[in-house]
Amino acid sequence: MVMALENKIAVVTGGASGIGRATAVRFAREGAHVVIGDVQDASETLRLVEEIGQKAVYKRTDTTSEADCDALVAAAVAEFGRVDVGVAAAGIATAAGMSNVETRAENGDATHVVNLATEAFRRVLDVNVLGVMMTDRALARQMLDQGDGGSIVNIASSAAKIPLAGAAPYCTSKAGVWMLTKVLGLELATTGVRVNAVGPGYTATPMIAGIEDNEAAYSSAMSITPMNRLGTADEQANAVLWLASAESSFVTGQMLHPAGGQFTD
Ligand SMILES: NC(=O)c1ccc[n+]([C@@H]2O[C@H](COP(=O)([O-])OP(=O)(O)OC[C@H]3O[C@@H](n4cnc5c(N)ncnc54)[C@H](O)[C@@H]3O)[C@@H](O)[C@H]2O)c1
Repeated sequence: MVMALENKIAVVTGGASGIGRATAVRFAREGAHVVIGDVQDASETLRLVEEIGQKAVYKRTDTTSEADCDALVAAAVAEFGRVDVGVAAAGIATAAGMSNVETRAENGDATHVVNLATEAFRRVLDVNVLGVMMTDRALARQMLDQGDGGSIVNIASSAAKIPLAGAAPYCTSKAGVWMLTKVLGLELATTGVRVNAVGPGYTATPMIAGIEDNEAAYSSAMSITPMNRLGTADEQANAVLWLASAESSFVTGQMLHPAGGQFTD
């Protein structure tokens, strides 16, 4: 049986956890070797990939660093000689460790734009937009040098299209990823390098850990999720796999929404 990514080399940022990890494992089951870039240790992902019988490499990568993004792709080339697939899954929901709130929290909800600290907004854009752009650029340069195409998949969000009160930095950043995907897909359309996005709905990963125990947050999430459940990281990885593989060879500049029926048009 021919596997969808037999002997392909895949770079996955954010591969230490959640959707990135599930993608790395799904790819390995389809015959790929994977290179994981993440700020956190990825030994569990490496173990899962190696258990399948594929090779896995970890390169510590902060995607907000241009040098790190370039070094991640260089590490893949040093180890395997090329890159066929890239997945930009590294992302954050809020600026953890920073004060998100300026001094005007008396103006209602502290998470709303009128109360947000500029630096907290900037941090989310740095990771989610610039980080994805610098990852994509490093991947695309390598794929163009190779000259035989490639597939880049960005993990955006249904929040690229659905405004969520209290999540302005995140929604803005994901809309940015979505537009970046379209522009890059257009710019590279004749080169054989395809650029697409997966826009997950609410998905059970550490990013939204505990949501099921927070009644207000969970019922608000389910009120816009017709299937009335969280998705799984594996369900996201299945969509990433399709966009990464030759099965989607005439698709570029598109976003797929495994989002439980959320209205994203
Ligand atoms: N879980 C959801 O409900 C959901 C919904 C829509 C979109 N997404 C998107 O899916 C992607 C993956 O998120 P997840 O749900 O798997 O969350 P997660 O927190 O499990 O995984 C995110 C990974 O990104 C890494 N990361 C964060 N900042 C980084 C940086 N600067 N450099 C390198 N790595 C960095 C983290 O260390 C982590 O391993 C994100 O882009 C997220 O916005 C998630």
